[in-house]
Amino acid sequence: MNMIEIERALRELRLSGIAETLSTRLMQAQAAQQPFLETFAAMLQDELDRRRSRLTARRFKRSGLDERPSLADFDWRFNPKLPRSACFELHTLKCIAEGANALIIGKPGTGKSHVAKAVAYQATLQGYDVRYVEADTEFARYGLASTAEQAEQLKGWVAPDLLVLDDLFLARRIADVSAELLQSIVHQRYKLRRSIIITSNRVVQDWGTYLGDATMATTILDRLMHRCAMLEFEGKSYRLKEAASRITTTAAE
Ligand SMILES: Nc1ncnc2c1ncn2[C@@H]1O[C@H](COP(=O)(O)OP(=O)(O)OP(=O)(O)O)[C@@H](O)[C@H]1O
Ligand SMILES: [Mg+2]
Repeated sequence: MNMIEIERALRELRLSGIAETLSTRLMQAQAAQQPFLETFAAMLQDELDRRRSRLTARRFKRSGLDERPSLADFDWRFNPKLPRSACFELHTLKCIAEGANALIIGKPGTGKSHVAKAVAYQATLQGYDVRYVEADTEFARYGLASTAEQAEQLKGWVAPDLLVLDDLFLARRIADVSAELLQSIVHQRYKLRRSIIITSNRVVQDWGTYLGDATMATTILDRLMHRCAMLEFEGKSYRLKEAASRITTTAAE
């Protein structure tokens, strides 16, 4: 086989990682008079690396996350009362293996969504199937969907290893159909021992009001809290700090 035929064969065999680096590895082997096995191992590694990064990219896309936040860029001094060790514990992803949940409840702008997204992103990197949803927006969309679409959407929220429902009850009282959806998600995931992370700035005592049904709130919370880490986010809004620093910068210009 000549080079063109080799490249064609590699594409046919879907070895695009090897195909991409072949000419470089060839040059390297000639330059260093490298033993065959060493070159072959490097080529296999190229293929593995490419497959892994493709899988990670696909998992990230499926997750619904729109950014890649990390706990490394979180300023823990800004709100010193945040449950820092509980956040890192969550970030270890042990909760996924254990089928445990986390409720991150607290004041606006204190970083609840940031932490939940950082955990979700870490889970995609570790090979978990993750679904991140802005709860109110997605629940409203569900309410407008056909019965067949609703069944499909529900499946998509029950199947993943980790589901993040961000900013639940942002719009205060949610529609009855959304409340029933939340109940189905929680009940089904509970039976399957699959983790849910919920962030909200509404304390659980008020969930009955936001769901429009106190009994439903009890059955949901009962299952959610059976195996659950409760993280309370007390403190000042980082958004206000950012807005204040923008005003100061503009004023100084
Ligand atoms: N301690 C922090 N260090 C760095 N960035 C932070 C910190 N706290 C919050 N932020 C940033 O501030 C913005 C608001 O945070 P976030 O959306 O996580 O708040 P939240 O608690 O979810 O608020 P809400 O209850 O309104 O949904 C985000 O851009 C987030 O990255
Ligand atoms: Mg939020």
